[in-house]
Amino acid sequence: MVKACTFAFVGKWSPAIPTRRYPSAPPQPHLASQIRWEREGLACETSINLISSSRPSVLGASGGIGQPLSLLLAISPLVDELSLYDVVNTPGVGADLSHINARAKITAYLPGPDSAGLEKALTGCDIVVIPAGIPRKPGMTRDDLFKINAGIVRDLAAGVAKFCPKALVLIISNPVNSTVPIAAEVLKEHKVFDPTRLFGVTSLDVVRASTFVADVAGGDRTKYKVPVVGGHSGETIVPLLSQISPSVSIPSDKLDALVNRIQFGGDEVVKAKDGAGSATLSMAYAGFRFAEALLKAGQGETGIVEPAYVYLPGVPGGKEVQEIVGGLEYFAVPIELGPNGVVKATNPLPNANEYEKKLLEKCYEGLKGNIAKGVEFIGTQSSK
Ligand SMILES: NC(=O)c1ccc[n+]([C@@H]2O[C@H](COP(=O)([O-])OP(=O)(O)OC[C@H]3O[C@@H](n4cnc5c(N)ncnc54)[C@H](O)[C@@H]3O)[C@@H](O)[C@H]2O)c1
Repeated sequence: MVKACTFAFVGKWSPAIPTRRYPSAPPQPHLASQIRWEREGLACETSINLISSSRPSVLGASGGIGQPLSLLLAISPLVDELSLYDVVNTPGVGADLSHINARAKITAYLPGPDSAGLEKALTGCDIVVIPAGIPRKPGMTRDDLFKINAGIVRDLAAGVAKFCPKALVLIISNPVNSTVPIAAEVLKEHKVFDPTRLFGVTSLDVVRASTFVADVAGGDRTKYKVPVVGGHSGETIVPLLSQISPSVSIPSDKLDALVNRIQFGGDEVVKAKDGAGSATLSMAYAGFRFAEALLKAGQGETGIVEPAYVYLPGVPGGKEVQEIVGGLEYFAVPIELGPNGVVKATNPLPNANEYEKKLLEKCYEGLKGNIAKGVEFIGTQSSK
């Protein structure tokens, strides 16, 4: 449960602090550590608004993405309790993770009768990460996954609506371009849709873009920040390479290949895994990176900006983006994050160059159909 608390400990680091357990002053400004220090009544110099505890849940926790993502969350100092849910194998994954000497308590659930497991997994959660569903096999597009994953996301979103309607919801299940509208429609049906709390996770496109830009331009892979906008499949993924920070010039004869690699990087993994699934480890890293950004924002850190696919009409700054993207309701842009999710959608589109504007035109066309497909999926079901 998210509870905002104000800690206002003012004073110098106290020498009376039990040095056997705490040999040095609390690290600053690492808020998670700071929270722990403050909870235990120890002094430090600051006054900030913090969330008292965090209980993320991973739905699809036994899968290729779910397991490494759960591992990263389980060892995060920002997590108090990690709740795992899947239709198979969660007792094993939970038992395994629970032996790690990290601070998070691990709980694990199977569906059980009457969705009792899902209810227990979700009750009290502040962040729900959803990588449940089937991954792509060679020759499949993300759209081919639609029929199966659409139903899975619909049912899990209904669980969120019933058992933790205020949670921040992170959708990883593909096709993200359509599964996020599906989740939104379900939350709307339950009258609990808050657009500032629903995210399609596009972080892997950003992670890949940083890596592939460094491969072409040289330099430190960890330093490049590339705004990647649009959606999360093929040509709907648009890297704005003219806005890379730190600024770097991509030779024109390498531009097309670089953009193509960022847009279709997932295919490299699907092909290399040769039938055994799609990106799991890099996706777990990217999904954790986004969840961690929200955890940090929830615990008081400001100025965090991460791209995500959001419902534009419902978020601050979204309408300005929507006007440029031909009225599309869902679109990924860099998002400033706060304790309640979206603080503001930023708009890098006015600075796109002519090359990028052509990419954007293709993106709009693809996204339009993907969004309609998600919305119609729920509409059709409701009218049955
Ligand atoms: N957003 C992205 O960037 C990105 C990247 C890679 C993969 N994906 C997508 O993530 C999803 C998962 O991929 P994966 O490789 O982990 O697949 P996986 O098959 O290894 O794991 C999926 C897990 O979901 C579980 N599951 C199925 N139905 C469920 C339900 N109703 N409730 C709870 N759990 C359920 C399965 O039991 C399985 O453990 C796929 O849709 C894949 O396309 C997204």
